[in-house]
Amino acid sequence: MSPVLDIEIMRRRHLRRIMSIEEVVYPRPWTIGVFTSEFDLVKRGERYYIVGSIEDRVVGYAGILFTPDDAHVTNIAVDPEWQRCGIATELLLELCWKARENGCQGMSLEVRASNTAARALYSRFGFVPAGVRRKYYENVEDAIVMWCHELGSPDHAHRLRAIEDERRLAVKGMVQ
Ligand SMILES: CC(C)(COP(=O)(O)OP(=O)(O)OC[C@H]1O[C@@H](n2cnc3c(N)ncnc32)[C@H](O)[C@@H]1OP(=O)(O)O)[C@@H](O)C(=O)NCCC(=O)NCCS
Repeated sequence: MSPVLDIEIMRRRHLRRIMSIEEVVYPRPWTIGVFTSEFDLVKRGERYYIVGSIEDRVVGYAGILFTPDDAHVTNIAVDPEWQRCGIATELLLELCWKARENGCQGMSLEVRASNTAARALYSRFGFVPAGVRRKYYENVEDAIVMWCHELGSPDHAHRLRAIEDERRLAVKGMVQ
């Protein structure tokens, strides 16, 4: 039987597991303090953070911030033991649906130039490179700025549905 991914709103009780993932996947992990200050902005409707769990164990998490017209991906990460199983795809689907629901017309993000895994994931969702922030990471590595400009369009809803049709995991929770 395929594992069931349960998607829910990120809570403080998830932070211990989140930090253990954060610390293995990023050279410069967020601190607990960064997550808790993001929670304050969630309360003000300026952020949206979710976690994905399998059998009650957090295996991935992701979030966006809202600007008046658009959304920006602030973080998305998956436990290395669970990578390449479709978890980030499910989390990003949920973020895209949520951003559409909030009236966002586009979505942007920054990604390390060398991060081919994340860049491939984002391309599938219609993100295209839109610029470079030179030496953005550790004053060494460039960030590629990617944009999905048509997030609010019917064509993009179609794209999201097509990605859902190919899903590899059983999903419960918020995903439509
Ligand atoms: C990037 C990341 C979130 C992807 O998570 P994931 O759950 O493994 O992604 P998915 O299984 O949903 O993969 C979706 C698609 O992304 C691409 N992809 C994911 N991992 C890949 C890899 N290691 N190499 C190449 N492409 C990859 C593929 O196109 C994949 O589709 P496919 O498996 O059908 O070929 C994960 O690798 C991660 O946590 N990395 C460390 C943190 C990070 O870099 N976050 C992004 C910051 S911008």
